[in-house]
Amino acid sequence: MCVIVTGGAGFIGSNFVLDWLAASDEKVVTLDALTYAGNLENLASLQGDARHVFVAGSIGDGELVARLLDEHQPRAVINFAAESHVDRSIHGPEDFIQTNIVGTFRLLEAVRAYFGKLPADRQAAFRFLHVSTDEVYGSLEKDAPAFNENNRYEPNSPYSASKAASDHLVRAYDHTYGLPVLTTNCSNNYGPYHFPEKLIPLVIHNALAGKSLPIYGDGMQIRDWLYVKDHCAAIRRVLEAGRLGETYNVGGWNEKANIEVVNTLCSILDELSPRQDGESYRTQITYVKDRPGHDRRYAIDASKLERELGWRPLETFETGIRKTVQWYLDNQSWVANVTSGAYREWLGKQYGA
Ligand code: NAD
Ligand code: TYD
Repeated sequence: MCVIVTGGAGFIGSNFVLDWLAASDEKVVTLDALTYAGNLENLASLQGDARHVFVAGSIGDGELVARLLDEHQPRAVINFAAESHVDRSIHGPEDFIQTNIVGTFRLLEAVRAYFGKLPADRQAAFRFLHVSTDEVYGSLEKDAPAFNENNRYEPNSPYSASKAASDHLVRAYDHTYGLPVLTTNCSNNYGPYHFPEKLIPLVIHNALAGKSLPIYGDGMQIRDWLYVKDHCAAIRRVLEAGRLGETYNVGGWNEKANIEVVNTLCSILDELSPRQDGESYRTQITYVKDRPGHDRRYAIDASKLERELGWRPLETFETGIRKTVQWYLDNQSWVANVTSGAYREWLGKQYGA
């Protein structure tokens, strides 16, 4: 038995692969294009492990995907591969259209052809699990109920629009071709191996480097934060027992304003790695120009997943964020390696000098 994980060298995908192989001996084939966000170092602990095969390549390469499917005969494909950063999608949407829409389409085509050749018993067991985001639902008013699976899709950024399109394709491949699909829509993740362009790892990195901590607009935008390992557990559970063709919202019941998240990070850093001058890291907070079209609030109602499949997050925000800060303090060489030349170019583009 074997599963194929696409995007498994990225933040969530690598946590998923590591957690999977920590709990099971079922082989994983990781397919990843190793963009700026993909990093083989995330999977370094699996070097020489016969249960893991890494393949460098794109989900958009239909021939390669077809070859991998034929060769490894997986019982599931779990699709994490994507361009994932909203700010990058604003600067350059093209890659998001290519990977998230065209790439997912080509992946679905290859999987459909493979699925069609499987005998009935293996077809019955096969799953295509598509990992998506709560951002497809758009932005919530302050007091509106959290997103459930029946909310309308109203994506607002090129990133969320491209993920919404991929979700629709996945749905259509079930409805039209009978491909056994599952979709998860998750809130903002945080934890180990998070690339330091997203809010939480960027703030930890900048704080320790003595740089400013950029808050977009008034800092009162709200996100629902989930520790990455809880997200990975939810995906395993949906893969195991989710009802075919269903979507499941995944969230941490942790709505926080951005400024609150940044203040919490500063307090934990003040305690675990105090500044030499005795000042708080909060003095590095700087308000900067807001993101264009910035979604004000996301919140996930994950009660369907709890009711049907018994999943709940194990970490609270307080426990998860502390573990995360500690991980970054313990893994400064990982941070140094990923914040190389290309990373600095991005900072220049997004935040100016
Ligand atoms: P990430 O940007 O850290 O990783 C994406 C990975 O996909 C990278 O390893 C990259 O090299 C790879 N990739 C990109 N294009 C590819 C292609 N054409 N073929 C193969 N691999 C390719 O992203 P992440 O935060 O780990 O997110 C993973 C998935 O989860 C994405 O689909 C994202 O939309 C979704 N998601 C993320 C969050 C979050 O908070 N990070 C929340 C909900 C859902
Ligand atoms: P991000 O981590 O990019 O995730 P997303 O936009 O997908 O939710 O951003 C989380 C929130 O933090 C979002 O409201 C934008 C904000 N933000 C800042 O205020 N400053 C920053 O430098 C970054 C990267 C994000």
